[in-house]
Amino acid sequence: MNTLKLTLSQIAGHALSEASGLENCDPNVITASKPEFGDYQSNGVMSIAKKIGCKPRELANLVVEAIAAQASPLIERLEVAGPGFINIHLSDAALIQRANEIEGDLGKLIPPADAPEKIVVDYSSPNLAKEMHVGHLRGTIIGDCLARVLERQGHEIIRQNHVGDWGTQFGMLISYMRELGETKGDLPTQLADLESFYRAAKQRFDEDPDFANIARSSVVKLQGGDEEHLTAWQLFIDESLKHCQAVYDKLNVTLSRKDLKAESFYNKELEGVVKKLEDAALLSVSDGARCVFLPEFTGKDGEPLPVIIQKTDGGYLYATTDLAAVAYRSFTLQAERSLYVVDARQSLHFQQVFAVARAAGFTSENISLEHIAYGTMMGKDGRPFKTRSGDTIKLVDLLDEAIRRAHELVAEKNPGLEDAAYSEIAEKVGIAAVKYADLSKNRTSDYVFDWSSMLSFEGNTAPYLMYAYARIRSILRKQELGLENIQITTATEAAERYLLLKILQLPEIVDMVARDCYPNFLCNYLYELAGLFMRFYESCPILKAEPKLRDSRLALSALAAATLQQGLGLLGIETLEQM
Ligand code: ARG
Repeated sequence: MNTLKLTLSQIAGHALSEASGLENCDPNVITASKPEFGDYQSNGVMSIAKKIGCKPRELANLVVEAIAAQASPLIERLEVAGPGFINIHLSDAALIQRANEIEGDLGKLIPPADAPEKIVVDYSSPNLAKEMHVGHLRGTIIGDCLARVLERQGHEIIRQNHVGDWGTQFGMLISYMRELGETKGDLPTQLADLESFYRAAKQRFDEDPDFANIARSSVVKLQGGDEEHLTAWQLFIDESLKHCQAVYDKLNVTLSRKDLKAESFYNKELEGVVKKLEDAALLSVSDGARCVFLPEFTGKDGEPLPVIIQKTDGGYLYATTDLAAVAYRSFTLQAERSLYVVDARQSLHFQQVFAVARAAGFTSENISLEHIAYGTMMGKDGRPFKTRSGDTIKLVDLLDEAIRRAHELVAEKNPGLEDAAYSEIAEKVGIAAVKYADLSKNRTSDYVFDWSSMLSFEGNTAPYLMYAYARIRSILRKQELGLENIQITTATEAAERYLLLKILQLPEIVDMVARDCYPNFLCNYLYELAGLFMRFYESCPILKAEPKLRDSRLALSALAAATLQQGLGLLGIETLEQM
């Protein structure tokens, strides 16, 4: 089933071409900006009129005739408005029919993509030297939402957790491990708190020059493939990944060990990267380091900016690995899109990597490389979110606090539940609140992390939406006869019709998120949907209505609940039947 918007675009596009004599006209169909403008409007007439030099309203009238001639059962009536807009009013009967065809299976509402693509989603990708901290939250949940949305559309998603496991810090960490191992031998316990382990190692490194030297030579040995160093390193990485997995599980994020494509994976390719750049005559030496200078990248004073590929001591850099990864995604995986869900502060890095990759043939024309940038999570003081003493906050601690706060909230709202019920609700609500607060903001902006607004039952929040869902479910439970075989038969009340139309628009929103990668579109949609349900509920009696009307309204309510559940699921948020 095509979306309403797509169906209307085809009809109006065809009519516009016919009326103007131009081929492939874009009718620019959008959802109407106000209810008095109908359900959708087509705004494409004005620019075409300009092109062919005729009066826009005259062309609009011809288009209206040409649409009417197609006699689509979807369209009730049309009108020309303003300078040449066409307002489209849809037929109630057609909307009802569409909704009933879904038969409560939202799968039918979100059609599989016409041309499923292979899409790499690089997300989360923390550095493994330390534990995940709040700075990893956004990338992890935005990336996961995009992966879910694209997967829902039937694309083949290849998750890539490009963890940092190969940098100089690992020399320090394994040297410290080896030092401790000789005296104690209880490493896994030591590593239980990676953060303090890292701090202790760093202190050793800063205080003892001999240790620092050992650490430096350790990196060289590690990267050169020395067995003993590799064993220690592997032990450390395994522990660190367990920490990550615990966070992913708690967050209900779909990443697992099989999605790992660590920096170290590309180690064996790096020599080849340098060779290829050399062959393309792109490498030059600057201050002893091998760099690529591209004319489009200059600093403030116009001096060329380097992309450093190899340091004087032979070490490779972040960009070198990313070039190898671009090649892997382009040629080995043969993906059609590669999304990099990474902090906006790395924008220049990705522009440079993509440009060098194109210049040197690390990528092909067939893949679209997209940096899905996100802003910083701020504290209320307007600075990056930290503890009072200025330390970074471990992600796992933040999530535990969310659950604790949700527990208090739920106990207040609904006293008299059993303890076990509280725990389940608190876990789901707490995690949902954190995720939703993030996903509902435009990802490119910085945003202020604020417990009280994200845990409110009012406004555009997870608790509000989850509560709306639970409320509909409780209404449906009151209906004794079961919901099978009941159909929507009426949409005469305005509130009823708005809700119905909104439900049918879910796939259009999913399309938008899949294309532009802004999860906040979906959040806004769900918030509006829940609001429309509440209005419907207030103005249209359900259980007290006469049987035929009651059934129709129950069917509509059930569909609204399913839509909310589906939408929240795409955000990575689980619903509750009761809260
Ligand atoms: N590990 C990097 C960091 O923590 C992010 C990696 C993102 N992905 C990539 N292909 N560069 O900043």
